[in-house]
Amino acid sequence: MFKTLTAPPQDKIIQIMGLYAADTRPEKVDLGVGVYRTEDGRTPVMAAVKAAEARILQAQESKGYVALAGDAGFHAVMRGLILGDAVAPERVAACATPGGTGAVRQILEMVQRLTPEARIWVPSPSWPNHAAITGHLGLAQVDYRYYDADAGGIDRDGMLADLAQAQKGDIVLLHGCCHNPTGADLSAQDWVDLAGVFEATGAIPFVDIAYQGFGEGLEEDAQGLRSLAARVPEMLVAASGSKNFGLYRERVGIILAVTDPGKPRDVAAAMLAHLNRQSFAFPPDHGARVVETILTDAELTAQWQAELDAMRSRMTANRRALAEALRAVTGSDRFGFVAAQRGMFSLLPVTEAQVAQLREDHAIYLVSDGRMNVAGLTEKTIPQVARAIAQVLG
Ligand code: LMR
Repeated sequence: MFKTLTAPPQDKIIQIMGLYAADTRPEKVDLGVGVYRTEDGRTPVMAAVKAAEARILQAQESKGYVALAGDAGFHAVMRGLILGDAVAPERVAACATPGGTGAVRQILEMVQRLTPEARIWVPSPSWPNHAAITGHLGLAQVDYRYYDADAGGIDRDGMLADLAQAQKGDIVLLHGCCHNPTGADLSAQDWVDLAGVFEATGAIPFVDIAYQGFGEGLEEDAQGLRSLAARVPEMLVAASGSKNFGLYRERVGIILAVTDPGKPRDVAAAMLAHLNRQSFAFPPDHGARVVETILTDAELTAQWQAELDAMRSRMTANRRALAEALRAVTGSDRFGFVAAQRGMFSLLPVTEAQVAQLREDHAIYLVSDGRMNVAGLTEKTIPQVARAIAQVLG
């Protein structure tokens, strides 16, 4: 079997992780994979997570299976965190998954089972695994205009014009906040206008929210998604606990399928549990239980929020400092968008060859499309990165 196989396509984010790990230069700077880092380059376990884990270690008496869709308590806290009271709980089918990627994968698999003819509308650009999973499942993908690189913001008219072409039952992927890879987010008005598009076309929104709390704040980052959920009859949400709880390797993810209460909700829940069973049976429990423990305890919730606020502030400060350093070395404001954008990523206007030059000549690691993780910057490396970018871009 293996003799006839050819190598699978490489994911550009995973590829850059490998190149960075293999680089022995001490001055190397990791602005690649979307993992939060402190000023000294660590990705620590959050204190609220440690405290929750200590409680779980003390109290947990069984590692027996939970349920195919995961734990109901985890569903409830995540539903509240993400949807707030935008929709009645009776309308939401929830299902735990291995990470946000697992949620994306299981949602698209459900679409493939239920409406294989549906087209998946994906913003241009998007997280590369969106297209990879869509293609892997044999679903048809249509790219829609999203980012205006010259303005460093949304191509609002292009997006609305493209999405007006969606058909009933098509799936439109949106990033809930902190757009990956551009850092350019939808405004409150954009979400309202998108709701109008969904009402007019009958297409179904699919919101991927992997960075809630990294943009403007936990509540602020969910406002757009919530305003949409309150207006449309059906909506799919894939959410992650990897970033905002720092639980990357524990694989914390959830699907929230908003539908009509009663039979449609129950069928969606049964289908999601069934699909879990076909793929991996039971979702991982430990990280989900940590999240549930934190969000059901006022003190732990406050501690976690304070840590999350500090992470967000650091990323915002890094954005400002890099934009200022770039202004100083280039004498222009062409990188001002870095300070204005939100979340973990911005997309630098660089070619793949320039990304390679930054890596080879300056030991600075970006994803090949120019995506930069601002959490990887530090006070010490910001001048070095600014100088290198100015030099490479000429
Ligand atoms: C990223 O975008 O870098 C992260 O979400 C990690 C991943 O799985 O791609």
